[in-house]
Amino acid sequence: MATYSIFQLFIFSFLILKSLSQTHPSPKQPPKSLILPVSKHPSTLQYTTQFNLGTPLNPQTLLLDLGGRLLWIDCENGYNHSSTYRPGLCGSAMCSAAKPIFGCELCLFSSSKQGFCNNNTCLVAIENTITTTVQFAEIAIDTISIGPFTMVPNFIFGCASAWLIKGLDSGINGVVGLGRTRIGFPTQLTSRFGGTFRRKFALCLPSSTSKSNGIVVFGDVRYVFYPNYNKSKLIDLTTSFSFTKLLVNPVTTADDVQGEPSADYFIGVTSITINKKPISQINTTLLSIDKNGFGGTKISTVKPYTVLESSIYNLVTENFAKELEAMNVARVAPMTPFTECFSTKNLKYNLVGVEVPNIGFVFENEDVYWELHGANLMVEISREVVCLGLLDGGLNPRTSIVIGAHQLEDNLLQFDLAASKLGFTSTLLEQEVECANFIV
Ligand SMILES: *[C@@H]1O[C@H](CO)[C@@H](O)[C@H](O)[C@H]1NC(C)=O
Ligand SMILES: *[C@@H]1O[C@H](CO)[C@@H](O)[C@H](O)[C@H]1NC(C)=O
Ligand SMILES: *[C@@H]1O[C@H](CO)[C@@H](O)[C@H](O)[C@H]1NC(C)=O
Ligand SMILES: *[C@@H]1O[C@H](CO)[C@@H](O)[C@H](O)[C@H]1NC(C)=O
Repeated sequence: MATYSIFQLFIFSFLILKSLSQTHPSPKQPPKSLILPVSKHPSTLQYTTQFNLGTPLNPQTLLLDLGGRLLWIDCENGYNHSSTYRPGLCGSAMCSAAKPIFGCELCLFSSSKQGFCNNNTCLVAIENTITTTVQFAEIAIDTISIGPFTMVPNFIFGCASAWLIKGLDSGINGVVGLGRTRIGFPTQLTSRFGGTFRRKFALCLPSSTSKSNGIVVFGDVRYVFYPNYNKSKLIDLTTSFSFTKLLVNPVTTADDVQGEPSADYFIGVTSITINKKPISQINTTLLSIDKNGFGGTKISTVKPYTVLESSIYNLVTENFAKELEAMNVARVAPMTPFTECFSTKNLKYNLVGVEVPNIGFVFENEDVYWELHGANLMVEISREVVCLGLLDGGLNPRTSIVIGAHQLEDNLLQFDLAASKLGFTSTLLEQEVECANFIV
């Protein structure tokens, strides 16, 4: 049995209250929103969520993959026979929804995946985006349940063999793909509940591995938090987003599929600033997506730190270090995987972390930018040393800028798929709010 954190129990008890307080209490009434809790693993920095799958309920701990194409489970372990499991028969609607499929196959591994390997089912290519390993697996449906009350029958997922989860934390049974596909988690929920269930979700990744929990909220809600200094005070962030367009990379960025647009969320960074000063030498060709799908900027929850194409990395780190030098902050030896490390001796701390130059991603015009402060920029190595939490992605990477999880923590991001826009707040720490302070 999974152990539930206080935060999850809180959400569960809230869901009870909510269902009691609804004006037309009816178990059939579709929810307007759903919430998944998010935890951060201390050493691997993987972000996970939990819900149940199957009948009877099998609790699942799953890696959260923002750009993942679909939900997939290790069907060999941690997922017992389920009476609501149905394999995706060739020619069925779920098969065509899951496309591009590899083909229609006989069960090849029947001995290992008891009950989860069937003849005449279609296979889908599934990628473990942490290890970039690909496997062909049976597509299937089963009931997922989120909290004690929301059952979603016939949810499409991939049923993988155990070796695909290698590289994920022990205890993780699979991956929740929130990507832009027909079988991505957000789109499946929306098409299931329809009507008032909006095709949007918000993500708030926790920074702390102990006390703090983050959230993914699907559907339309008000985003209300309390500040750390007063739990009775409400801070409503629903209208505090800045927006930029979500872009579709027309060429897949995954290793598992061909011939479909990328499931990743791309945004149009047009310039990068250090303390609001644009770095003029950046090669802007790298910032746009070319016809082969190379270049551009995407957001990732599986990359722990932002990865920049080499020439961009060099310019950002040089300019950042120059600003710190002017502040009399001494450079110290690199600490793998980081190259830019500094003594904390002349650095102060404030609400938004260590006081270092801000780095900004500028979008449509100079008034639309996402500014990163100390807590999202620096990684504390010790009391004496902090390092800039960016990595060099080498020359000619597939995507020039991959904004990673450390840079997303305690920021609220809203992915509005219907309107194709990303809403972002700056760090919530400025208002003494963390993701865990979300009020359902
Ligand atoms: C699967 O069944 C076994 C034996 O009945 C049980 O010990 C185990 O907890 C079950 N696993 C899940 C994930 O429900
Ligand atoms: C699949 O079909 C093959 C060949 O007809 C048969 O030998 C095998 O037992 C079947 N496997 C399952 C799981 O039904
Ligand atoms: C906390 O916030 C509530 C609601 O805004 C307010 O009534 C109360 O006075 C605040 N408490 C303190 C100690 O400031
Ligand atoms: C800018 O980047 C593009 C794409 O990698 C490259 O073809 C071009 O030569 C670069 N321009 C300069 C001035 O380095």
